[in-house]
Amino acid sequence: MIYSKIIGTGSYLPSKVLTNYDLEKIVDTTHDWIFSRSGIAERHVAAENEFASDLALQASLKAIEAAGITADEIDLIIVATTSPDMHFPGSACILQGKLGIKNGGAAFDVQAVCGGFVYALNTADMYIRGGQAKTVLVVGAEVLSRMLDWNDRTTCVLFGDGAGAVILRSSDKPGIVVAKLHADGSHRNMLKADPTISMDGQAVFKFAVKVLSDVVEEVLEDQKLTGADIDWLVPHQANIRIIEATAKKLGVSMDKVVVTVAQHGNTSAASIPLALDAAVRDGRIKPGQNILMEAVGGGFTWGAVLIKW
Ligand code: UT7
Repeated sequence: MIYSKIIGTGSYLPSKVLTNYDLEKIVDTTHDWIFSRSGIAERHVAAENEFASDLALQASLKAIEAAGITADEIDLIIVATTSPDMHFPGSACILQGKLGIKNGGAAFDVQAVCGGFVYALNTADMYIRGGQAKTVLVVGAEVLSRMLDWNDRTTCVLFGDGAGAVILRSSDKPGIVVAKLHADGSHRNMLKADPTISMDGQAVFKFAVKVLSDVVEEVLEDQKLTGADIDWLVPHQANIRIIEATAKKLGVSMDKVVVTVAQHGNTSAASIPLALDAAVRDGRIKPGQNILMEAVGGGFTWGAVLIKW
């Protein structure tokens, strides 16, 4: 049996930090409102000349180093992003070029907004299990600051920029155990960017808690596991109250949840690999543990992935 194993992680955040107090000077808001409603205290914002592929490159170089491989061994690149550098070429091709990879491996983007990383991870896993790829770079990279209306206090306080990357390699040991993905396009207007981000916050909140609870339950049931079997929940970081509600329904205590939303805000497809890298590098995530990821985003798309680390 072929599995996909994560053998290296990396992440990158732009150097500029925008705190809630900074935002008080831009829109009619307060640190207390933002922090109490979302759990966000600050977020990173890309420089004018920094694009999603630049953040992706830095995160990828760290993941490649952590995996102990050379970039040329990567035979597939998948970038999950909803804020690409340009309409085309795709961010994965731009990244392949910046990494100097010339081995003819495939490269493409996945657009599933905040659900993008779990979609990309599942896609990579299918390529590896199907024998079409051996070493895959999966990246979530976003510069959502470019898609915000900085006069709209209901959205501009919530999002941030960043990138996270993982290297997956085929292995005879698990690995990615199971992934479940879903979408429901009938809710496409609840959260959208046309061209700036707008949403019905309360409706998104309720929908998110419902589908995330359902999909983590679906993944656990598939493996006859319960919340007690999960060592670390690595959720999409949109709102601490969504994270807490999902963890509670799952029966996982908050000390087993990796939380970065206070420092990063909602970085869409980048949020899970950013949180994952933090917990791998500080030693919380260890070999043999059960890691559960879940995400929901515009579309709507949602999904969960269970990994034996
Ligand atoms: O990846 C998925 C992406 N999106 C999400 O996950 C977002 C999900 N939704 C949420 O996280 C929450 O709904 C929000 C954080 C967006 C909002 O929290 P809420 O508790 O649902 O607040 P609300 O939208 O009901 O707004 C309450 C009040 C309103 O004033 P009135 O109508 O009660 O007078 C808003 O106008 O807060 C006001 N408000 C603000 N006040 C200060 C909205 N934004 C702000 C703000 N600062 N930034």
